[in-house]
Amino acid sequence: MQNFDFQNTTRLIFGKGQIARLADLISDGTKVLVTFGGGSVKRNGVYQQVTEALKGKNYIEFWGIEPNPSVETLRKAVALGLEEKVDMLLAVGGGSVLDGTKLVAAAIAEPQRDAWDIVKTGQMPKQIPFASVMTLPATGSEMNNGCVISCHETKEKFSARGDYPVFSILDPETTYSLPPHQIACSLADIVVHCFEQYMTTPGQSRVLDRWAEGVIASTMEIAPLIRQNQHDYDLMSDYMFCATMALNNFIRMGVTQDWCTHQIGHELTALCGITHGESLAMVYPGTLKVLREQKKAKILQFGERVLGVVDGTEDARIDQTIAAIEAFFKSLGLATRLSEKGIGMETVDEITRRFNARGVHLGENHNVTGDVARQILLASL
Ligand code: NZQ
Ligand code: ZN
Repeated sequence: MQNFDFQNTTRLIFGKGQIARLADLISDGTKVLVTFGGGSVKRNGVYQQVTEALKGKNYIEFWGIEPNPSVETLRKAVALGLEEKVDMLLAVGGGSVLDGTKLVAAAIAEPQRDAWDIVKTGQMPKQIPFASVMTLPATGSEMNNGCVISCHETKEKFSARGDYPVFSILDPETTYSLPPHQIACSLADIVVHCFEQYMTTPGQSRVLDRWAEGVIASTMEIAPLIRQNQHDYDLMSDYMFCATMALNNFIRMGVTQDWCTHQIGHELTALCGITHGESLAMVYPGTLKVLREQKKAKILQFGERVLGVVDGTEDARIDQTIAAIEAFFKSLGLATRLSEKGIGMETVDEITRRFNARGVHLGENHNVTGDVARQILLASL
């Protein structure tokens, strides 16, 4: 294992009826800006639970943080927060609402800086406190210190790191109303979060290898069951917990990480509007094909331990494992090739150009340059 310094400060509050706890978690003297997305919380009863719990508290509301939150929208929330001199932010919704809120927390803490300039540094050194009621298991944003923000003007999408949410409330009942396609995207996202931290260098941590394999195996197991009944509380609890455990910075302790699929996926979202989880399903099989030699030992380990792929030569087992991972994404109803979404060489060329201009060296071995990313995209056509 490599040296590491780990501290995750989020208080995780999990279970039925826990949104009511907001009444105790937020003190009476605190002025809160509550942030929302496009209105799903009004249709599924979450908004009513939140406002009931916040009765008598000092709060205002900001609506309209969109999927793949844009800096253009978030600047409006920053202006409102500054004008109203809020002390704290509470995000109610999916990963986009919380990610956007993390940036708003940074831009309110440093009002002299433009929000996009903060994102471009990749760091949010100061933030006012923020917390969440998470309604979509996918990003792990509820228990991590990252956010991913889009800029419509430049068609770019970048991530930044800062503080962890003070607390996050996860009530699995809030997931009952999720559209099936959103669930499919989120299951792909959860699995690829694990892969980005697992399918790297072998022999770094027995515990974290099995942790990642456990979260992926659980997610693959529950996926078809959720399609049958997304109102099963225990099932949706597992789903919600898998998402948090996949990206709360636990699996990455002391091990190398990849993330090249995410970086390429972000470009597909920024340029072509592909939903985050689906962008990963479209790129990850290509990543494994192009980097199969480098990732050989881990692909074989995953194939054997999680998929039961034990027969044949090493090459045949690698092929079978990559095919099974792609088949899992397909079983969710997601595209696994760029061509299925009408994406062709123009986008491949533009992503290559951007990565070369940025001089990227992604992946666990820092060898995924613009040209290697291009090979991955070509393998994903
Ligand atoms: O906007 P509303 O009306 O709330 O509807 C949302 C949105 O349309 C809806 N939704 C959320 N909860 C619902 C619900 N609909 C019915 N019932 C519910 N309980 O779902 C739609 C998508 O929501 P969004 O928040 O965009 O999805 P997700 O949570 O997957 O977040 C995606 C964003 O997170 C970033 C992605 O890049 C993308 O921008 N990521 C953030 C990460 C992080 N912070 O660590 C890591 C991830 O890799 C990812 O990059
Ligand atoms: Zn992701």
